Amino acid sequence: MTDRYAVVGNPIAHSKSPLIHAEFARQTGQDLSYTAILAPLDGFAATIRDFQQAGGKGLNVTVPFKQEAWQLASSLSERAQLAQAVNTLKFEDGEISGDNTDGAGLVRDIRENLKVSLEGKRILVMGAGGAARGVLLPLLEQRPAELAIANRTPGRAVELQQQFAAYGQVEGGDYAGLAGRQFDVVINATSSSLQGELPPLPAGVFAEGCLAYDMMYGKGLTPFLAFAQEHGAAQLADGLGMLVEQAAESFFLWRGVRPETAPVIAMLKSC
Ligand code: ATR
Repeated sequence: MTDRYAVVGNPIAHSKSPLIHAEFARQTGQDLSYTAILAPLDGFAATIRDFQQAGGKGLNVTVPFKQEAWQLASSLSERAQLAQAVNTLKFEDGEISGDNTDGAGLVRDIRENLKVSLEGKRILVMGAGGAARGVLLPLLEQRPAELAIANRTPGRAVELQQQFAAYGQVEGGDYAGLAGRQFDVVINATSSSLQGELPPLPAGVFAEGCLAYDMMYGKGLTPFLAFAQEHGAAQLADGLGMLVEQAAESFFLWRGVRPETAPVIAMLKSC
């Protein structure tokens, strides 16, 4: 019998996940279906229960349900526990296990696709919301020399510093405090691109050879990537690679097979 998977969110119509997972399944010869499910804003738990009772094997979870999924899972990976968010659910023996593959997807995109090592590097993460929290542990596991978190509301960045201090050299603060400092990798984990805006980032933060990475993606450069290009970043990347890599990581969790991501990234870039 064909194993059933899906992505749940609200809105969900524009999700690329069904296309990505269909490609992975075709490529690896796995017998599975993967659909998109729109859950009512107040009906996430019921949607999950129905899917599980109908024999579903796993779900991806997207905006705005990742935190609810974290609360709902009966067991959690360490990275999901720290992220306080779950993007991958696996149903097995009546249990719901929760994981978060976003950070692993980001790190994999940077290391494998963009060929940038993070070890010993100075990393700046902009933003202190769910998107930032979700990638901190996998970034720290790469043993950067330092990881700075800057946020418009600095108290949220300081909170993250306190929560992640045990995992590496991490500090949180505001954007003004970045003046005079330089970073090898600057990651935009804010939602500012959605509003066509840019965090108040000092122009001098991009070190020679710097990678500027926006976790958002869309047509053309985001405001952050345009700013980075103008101020000397050597390499620019948007979040399309991360999207495909986090999907591959979920696919691997469910199926035990690692699909090839490069052809899928290339396909999405050409759409
Ligand atoms: P997500 O789950 O996408 O991270 P979130 O938890 O609402 O969403 O967090 C959004 C992040 O983007 C926050 O760090 C927010 O900064 P504040 O904590 O100060 O609100 C940041 N953000 C959103 N719009 C921004 C803007 N125009 N400039 C700078 N930061 C912005």
